[in-house]
Amino acid sequence: MSRRKLVVGNWKMNGLRAQLGEVEAIGGLAREHGSVEVGLCLPATLIAAADAVKGGAFVGAQDCHMRASGAHTGCLSAPMLAEAGASWTIVGHSERRQDQGETDADVAAKALAAKAAGLKVILCVGESLEVRDAGDAEAVVSAQLLASLPEGAAADWLSIAYEPIWAIGTGRIPTMEAVAEMHAALRAALARRIGGEADAVRILYGGSMNGDNAAELLALADVDGGLIGGASLTAEKFAPVIAAAA
Ligand code: 13P
Repeated sequence: MSRRKLVVGNWKMNGLRAQLGEVEAIGGLAREHGSVEVGLCLPATLIAAADAVKGGAFVGAQDCHMRASGAHTGCLSAPMLAEAGASWTIVGHSERRQDQGETDADVAAKALAAKAAGLKVILCVGESLEVRDAGDAEAVVSAQLLASLPEGAAADWLSIAYEPIWAIGTGRIPTMEAVAEMHAALRAALARRIGGEADAVRILYGGSMNGDNAAELLALADVDGGLIGGASLTAEKFAPVIAAAA
């Protein structure tokens, strides 16, 4: 099964209009490397302006509410994000699971809300250092994936990102062997739930991916792309990651 590589920047709580030039430059890189699907999940405040300069990249959000509208002060719904120009959204990032107390059930509900609004979804899972050190990472992350997986999960709208929490923003990554084993375990878990469709689902790696390690990570059999934080904030840093995926 050949899966088109998917390389997505997650800008987290970074980016003002002054950074739209970086969006435009990354959109240009995406055009140059048409074999790779490239996107930027931006702060919601930048989505509409980024949509106008995104070039060959897609623009996405970093989260959405599980309801389409209602009395939820400060929240943004999937239809709002879609109207602003997002075509994808992340759900279940570990920073939201930790900071906002989002549960697996919340994550599944958000994924369904996104799909209903026509957004494609990157669903994040990953273990803590304690779980990794205890030797339980594959079992825990596989269970987290199945508990967070929405009804009707299919490759045309859903991708998975494996992001070990201890690798996010730390410069540390698991061994290549550990990444390969986790991605294979996640695909096997998916296959238990959705059968042969699991072969087509893209499973991204995230956590300190950058121009120095991307080629090796992206060469692993079940690594179908990356979800990149710090190294996606400028075109200069993101360029070698996109090139490695091409
Ligand atoms: P870093 O690439 O900065 O480690 O962030 C990874 C991440 O959390 C992407 O969602």
